[in-house]
Amino acid sequence: MKKQIVLTGIKPTGMPHLGNCLGAIRPALHLAEQQNCESRFFIADYHSLNTIRDADTLRAYIYEVAASWLAAGLNPDKTLIYRQSDVPETFELATILTAFTAKGLMNRAHAYKAAAALNVEGGQPEDHQINMGLYTYPILMAADILLFDTNLVPVGKDQVQHVEMAQDIAGVINYNYKKDVLVIPEALTTGEMMAIPGLDGRKMSKSYDNHIPLFLPEKQLRKRIMKIVTNSQGVEEAKNPDACTIFALYKLIANESEQHALAERYRAGGMGWGEAKQELFERLNAFLSPMREKYDALMADRSRIDTILADGARRARETAQRTLSRVRKAVGIG
Ligand code: TRP
Repeated sequence: MKKQIVLTGIKPTGMPHLGNCLGAIRPALHLAEQQNCESRFFIADYHSLNTIRDADTLRAYIYEVAASWLAAGLNPDKTLIYRQSDVPETFELATILTAFTAKGLMNRAHAYKAAAALNVEGGQPEDHQINMGLYTYPILMAADILLFDTNLVPVGKDQVQHVEMAQDIAGVINYNYKKDVLVIPEALTTGEMMAIPGLDGRKMSKSYDNHIPLFLPEKQLRKRIMKIVTNSQGVEEAKNPDACTIFALYKLIANESEQHALAERYRAGGMGWGEAKQELFERLNAFLSPMREKYDALMADRSRIDTILADGARRARETAQRTLSRVRKAVGIG
């Protein structure tokens, strides 16, 4: 059976948090280990340029995201990792796709519509501060995907519409030339993308500032965990593990017997919230320490990251060039 090409892009937005790790990075790396898949991950740096306008910040974010995925277990010998900007074929394909993309399709993109609606709500002109990068974002994303004859695109729910637009655009091209110029991709939403609770019990998110950055130094990690919001039950009271953020996080990383043991202590009473948090901290720290060590080592010697990304780009471009020349030929360019 032909291997399925799996591809996903990661927008560099700084050090990932625990929710990203458990909800997205771990499932994606798990998928990458499947025998029948060939996985590619890329850092979508040109996608970030739409919003990040400080060069040092963008550069730092790119390294942080690369180091995080490598530290979390991505094996660059088996799984391609590269920087979008290192594969210029992406941008030529995007230009070709532009000619086949209905403007109306872009008008319907959720991200653009949300930004425009927010403007109108705030009494601003609809297009206030909306750049063409945001407007044509789905075309660039389609190019990322279609360039590698991708079959499966693991994404969160918010990105499914973008993958459907890639299908749409590829379909228009195939229909026009009456042959399979491009492979039609499918979105793969890994079930219900696990909702990881943050410090205040809402979904963990950097924008709520309730997140736990993955590679905090130990002391800061402990401080962050001590901020978890609990109810006002006293030490002696019996507690319900299933209605508690501390336990919900513990469950995600601890094995069954550990979970069972802590749940028993909840129910028995006599354990205060501070103690429960300490348990979580220790377990989480044990989980994160090996990754943190790798992360710190990579960040201390960025030339290693550069080498890995350059090698990834070189290999990615071999496929990219093949696809691009096929498309050029099909449309009558060159
Ligand atoms: N748009 C995605 C996000 O915001 C990132 C992304 C860019 C992507 N290009 C992609 C994801 C191609 C999958 C495939 O998270």
